[in-house]
Amino acid sequence: MRKKRVLSGIQPTGKLHLGNLLGALENWKKLQDEYECFFFIADLHALTTFYDNPKELHSTVKEVAADLLAIGLDPEKSVIFKQSDVPEHSELHLIFSMITPLSWVERVPTYKSKIEEIKGKDLGTYGFLGYPVLQAADILIYKADYVPVGEDQLPHIELTREIGRRFNNFYGELFPMPKDLLTKTPNVPGTDGRKMSKSYNNAINLSDSSEELKKKVNMMITDPARVVKTDKGHPEVCTVFDFHEIFTAPKIKQIAEECKKAERGCVECKKELLRQLEEYLAPIKERRGKIKNIDEILEAGAKKARAIASQTLSEAKKAMGLF
Ligand code: TRP
Ligand code: SF4
Repeated sequence: MRKKRVLSGIQPTGKLHLGNLLGALENWKKLQDEYECFFFIADLHALTTFYDNPKELHSTVKEVAADLLAIGLDPEKSVIFKQSDVPEHSELHLIFSMITPLSWVERVPTYKSKIEEIKGKDLGTYGFLGYPVLQAADILIYKADYVPVGEDQLPHIELTREIGRRFNNFYGELFPMPKDLLTKTPNVPGTDGRKMSKSYNNAINLSDSSEELKKKVNMMITDPARVVKTDKGHPEVCTVFDFHEIFTAPKIKQIAEECKKAERGCVECKKELLRQLEEYLAPIKERRGKIKNIDEILEAGAKKARAIASQTLSEAKKAMGLF
């Protein structure tokens, strides 16, 4: 039996951080052993919000590609590519735009919420409204069985199925219905205790140097009640402790006890966290050092992806009687 097919994409909006890794990418990495995987960098999607500076996407695409390889996505196992290198996505998107009722895209919750969130930029564009229609094309052009995503993306997967169903009803059965593989997003805190996010400027990037990492750990806010080491601590209000919960999990009870009894100082506590983070990031750093040919990897990925995408696109056109 053929392996089930998995597909997912990530927007190249900047360097990837620990939140991206624990939230989604760790999961992608696991999936590549069991499924036929397609992972791509969604530069066309990024264009819906970065249309005012598309040149910058060259460097962010490269950074994200390097991050993906560094965390252990393996081009021998998975097809890794850049969305715009496979123009069939855009053509299927155009076809889908003909059959997608306006009301369907207008009610997608991310539409209004993103416009609210991203102030100071005009997102009242045709392309931005069509964001999830392009996503439907990304998914259906590979007839993907599973799409690993976070919760915020579920309405897009639902819309993908609706568009696929509508196509099938009009022109004949072509697209299978993809299922979401919901990734539980652990709440990864940023260095300021809020959710880790590029836009909050509180992220630990996968590519941070040892110096940057050290600086960021030293900046973390600890329990303000601990002015001197003999003050008893409250780990539940401390960002360093939140990180220990993720990266020093087996020792977490001990750390909490020692903090509460003032048997552990914040300086040594941070040093311990730094060691844990260094250890966690070490294999990523090592792999990053060995990456050479990002362009070639993306090119080879696009070639494999296009073979399938062009096949599906012809099937779609044939079903419609377009040629
Ligand atoms: N919209 C997704 C996000 O912001 C990225 C994406 C684009 C995607 N196309 C996709 C995810 C197709 C899964 C499948 O995270
Ligand atoms: Fe936070 Fe550790 Fe200091 Fe306790 S000892 S307040 S957990 S840094």
